[in-house]
Amino acid sequence: MAKGFYLSRNLAMAGLLLAAIALVTIIALSVVYDKERSRNRAPSNGAPSVGASSPSSSSSIDPYSSSTSASPGPQKPWQRYRLPDTLAPVHYDITLWPRLEPDQQGLYIFTGNSTVRFVCLKDTDLIIIHANKLNFTLFQGHEARLKALDPAHPVPQVQSSWLQEETEYLVLQLDGALKAGRVYLLETQFKGELADDLEGFYRSQYTEDGVQKVLATSQMQATFARKAFPCFDEPAMKATFSVVLIHPQGTGALSNSKQMESSRVEFDGIPVSRTTFEPTKRMSTYLLAFIVSGFSFIEGDQETDVQVRIWARHQAITEGQGDYALNVTEAILNFYEHYYNTSYPLSKSDQVALPDFNAGAMENWGLITYRETALLYDPVASSTGNKERVLTVIAHELAHMWFGNLVTLRWWNDLWLNEGFASYVEYLGADHAEPTWDIKEHIIFEVRKVFAVDALASSHPLSRREEEVNRPSEITEMFNTISYSKGAAVLRMLSEFLSEPVFAKGLSSYLNMFAFNNTVYTDLWDHLQLVSDTPSISLPHSVQDIMNRWVLQMGFPVVTVDTRTGQVSQQHFLNDPQAVVERGSPFNYTWFVPIKWIKSGVEQEQFWLLKKTGIDSRVIATGDQWVLANTNVSGYFRVNYDLENWERLLHLLHTDHQAIPTVNRAQLLDDAFNLARAKVINTTLALRTTSYLSKERDYIPWASALSNLNYYFLMFDRTEVYGPLQGYIRKQTLPLFEYYRTITANWARVPPGHNDQYNQINALNMACNTGLKDCKELALRWFSEWMADPERNPIHPNLKSTVYCSAIAFGGTEEWDFAWRMFQNATVATESARLRSALACTKAPWLLNRYLQYSIDPTKIRKQDSVSTIVAVARNVVGMPLAWNFVRENWSYIFNNYGRGSFSFSGLITGITQRFSTEFELKELERFKEQNLQVGFGSASLALEQAIENTRANIRWLAESRSQVLDWLSGEAK
Ligand SMILES: *[C@@H]1O[C@H](CO)[C@@H](O)[C@H](O)[C@H]1NC(C)=O
Ligand SMILES: *[C@@H]1O[C@H](CO)[C@@H](O)[C@H](O)[C@H]1NC(C)=O
Ligand SMILES: *[C@@H]1O[C@H](CO)[C@@H](O)[C@H](O)[C@H]1NC(C)=O
Ligand SMILES: [Zn+2]
Repeated sequence: MAKGFYLSRNLAMAGLLLAAIALVTIIALSVVYDKERSRNRAPSNGAPSVGASSPSSSSSIDPYSSSTSASPGPQKPWQRYRLPDTLAPVHYDITLWPRLEPDQQGLYIFTGNSTVRFVCLKDTDLIIIHANKLNFTLFQGHEARLKALDPAHPVPQVQSSWLQEETEYLVLQLDGALKAGRVYLLETQFKGELADDLEGFYRSQYTEDGVQKVLATSQMQATFARKAFPCFDEPAMKATFSVVLIHPQGTGALSNSKQMESSRVEFDGIPVSRTTFEPTKRMSTYLLAFIVSGFSFIEGDQETDVQVRIWARHQAITEGQGDYALNVTEAILNFYEHYYNTSYPLSKSDQVALPDFNAGAMENWGLITYRETALLYDPVASSTGNKERVLTVIAHELAHMWFGNLVTLRWWNDLWLNEGFASYVEYLGADHAEPTWDIKEHIIFEVRKVFAVDALASSHPLSRREEEVNRPSEITEMFNTISYSKGAAVLRMLSEFLSEPVFAKGLSSYLNMFAFNNTVYTDLWDHLQLVSDTPSISLPHSVQDIMNRWVLQMGFPVVTVDTRTGQVSQQHFLNDPQAVVERGSPFNYTWFVPIKWIKSGVEQEQFWLLKKTGIDSRVIATGDQWVLANTNVSGYFRVNYDLENWERLLHLLHTDHQAIPTVNRAQLLDDAFNLARAKVINTTLALRTTSYLSKERDYIPWASALSNLNYYFLMFDRTEVYGPLQGYIRKQTLPLFEYYRTITANWARVPPGHNDQYNQINALNMACNTGLKDCKELALRWFSEWMADPERNPIHPNLKSTVYCSAIAFGGTEEWDFAWRMFQNATVATESARLRSALACTKAPWLLNRYLQYSIDPTKIRKQDSVSTIVAVARNVVGMPLAWNFVRENWSYIFNNYGRGSFSFSGLITGITQRFSTEFELKELERFKEQNLQVGFGSASLALEQAIENTRANIRWLAESRSQVLDWLSGEAK
């Protein structure tokens, strides 16, 4: 799955510089993955509650510190969350019929039937199969009918049967044993609700030409296939599937494999279409997908055998919004076929943009589903950031077609390998499709993002033991930044020290060996080891031993290079030096660290730091020699130096900054700021890394600087430091603003480079946000031109977010209402996303409060967008306390309606508490935690702990650094 809601990378960094700014469009904030959602209507089976998340699991605050799973104990098999190992599915025949109109009770439903052929592995008199919220038609009083494949074999009778709601099972107790080695058939007939809950088989709505349209679609990962039909719903229970969809005439049906035939028939006197699909390859249930819609598509005209199509609303397709996706899909598929050295495993690839979708995208095998903003690109209305988002999400999902889908991890505890892998290779696939974008460098944004959470004492290791992950809510918790971004960072490091060709060779060997089967993560290490056992690669330890250090212990080291003595040492890096690390580590928080480095402009041979401390005389520098470690940030660690080397690097930044690789310039800033926060180096030293910026024209270092200064804005935008801070940044940004004004001929042209376009946005954004008059006037003028003629928007898409936000911040009710109208009428998803975040930029409290109310009204803001809207308001300094009050007042409602156990909630807590830095705010946060223990925090539990830890660190940092920062800035800002 791809990460959920995004705020534009360049904008996110600059986002706080204006008192009231909240620019959201796209950059990973956190994984939105909505698990349990209680509903207003009665659940099926007349059950009183929704099952999975028991109160005890949702009130457990640190899900990673102890196992929250039910203890083994003397449980019955149906009380355990994992299926017994007695039965294995072979093939399913499934027919599903979604109704796109409500029934007499006003309920949208689907009906279906299914026969699963399974083999008995161990004699048993129990059949346990997943089923959730399905109402069954009874056969002789039971929910299912059992047959033997071979009619000559006797079949035991169903003695009793029931639905086990807590564990989401249908249980059949037989009067005799199924025999190992024999094959049986289990037949069911059922009915479920086609709800708007974004889980399982669900419905989505949109308006076209004034007509309300309904479609049926699905989201099975991680545990929702059981909500569509009874199934052995674990990733290792692979089977083949023959799917039939019944649907209204005039609509189309899609599933994982190609359509075999479609005919018009009558069911229950209703004329319908009946579409049969080819049997699938052997696959996991969580990768199934069913869609019935009136969507249109475009198709690739490539000579290859693989059919590639992009689907969306009719209007979006006719406007060409799917063209870019189609273009890059073919390029990316070609790339992966070479990279994996394995052809695309299926005969077709459909990708569908859905109006309602919870995550960013979902890698269903052969039928990938997306949020509209992650698949559709409008050449007229979309920005370059929107384009990059489309490109990278497609590259991410297509990577899963092999890694994850063809070969699947056995259980969810290894999710990090699946998601980390796709999050890494998406950059390779994207780079292949857009080779001029230098997009591989952008992975450092991912690294930086996860550094921030992995440097907390409340972090957790990438890998968990299989027994620790059982309940659906525990599975949901695996979809977090650590899994995605740290996973990507450590795999990239591995690929770098093995070299890319060796890494790819090992991958190919792994994929071939385990095609259509399942693995554990160490299987990948074994295959990489196999291809690394050549004299040309000298590793200090086995792949497994090296990687265990990164996978089994949380956090990462800061490596200190002392160029006076040659000493190189490592230490577990923590944002807060006083934080108490309670979690133990099997390796005592030391890592095997591969260090690439540069000495005075010359690349040196990589060396390994294998202990806490080592001596390497090669790193000794004299005179004006300088040392830079972790070239291109290929290793997952921070770097510190002795003061003399820091001074030499600062000097170099001023005299010849391009002698340092772009990514390392960004990292020098980022390391310095974070080391200062952790009190390892002086705050003034960190601030001094920004003083060369008036000469910097590259995007990546600027982005790094802005994101770090962002922290200063968060800490100081309510204090007396704010004025000097604004002044300093304005002074540093002015040359960049002028530079872009010149090369764009007074903002008339678009800068040629991809990264230059981002940096232009930064320049404009910073200038407007630090109150540069020229910029403010520009924004207001463009916006009023648009208001005067809504049909013609004169603002370039790249600059829209900045201009909208500035105009709404500086404007009043009229601007707000105009933007709200434009938001409601927008037919391009990226445009509506931009407007939605810009609406949070107003400084008027009453508008912000009204907007907060809108955010939880699904007739105004789609459910999928609620959390990111609230977070946008919180990013605004005026909106922050309002959003915090709103969330506290409505916690129970928001939690129950907008994602119990949802990862969007970690984004909510993180977003709202970003500025927290006073004792008072800490107390409020702690009180909030106490008061809502009953309601629970679901997957935001960890985020809440992180927020408390961060607030404490902020309080201390402020106490110690405030006057230092004020003095330095006052000296610089004149
Ligand atoms: C399933 O049965 C329950 C209890 O009778 C009922 O409330 C619910 O609406 C049914 N679901 C569907 C989809 O018909
Ligand atoms: C499901 O029901 C349809 C229509 O009654 C029937 O044709 C089909 O054989 C059934 N399929 C299974 C798998 O039971
Ligand atoms: C898709 O590719 C074609 C051919 O290279 C190109 O002309 C077109 O502009 C591309 N479309 C988009 C939206 O990038
Ligand atoms: Zn993914």
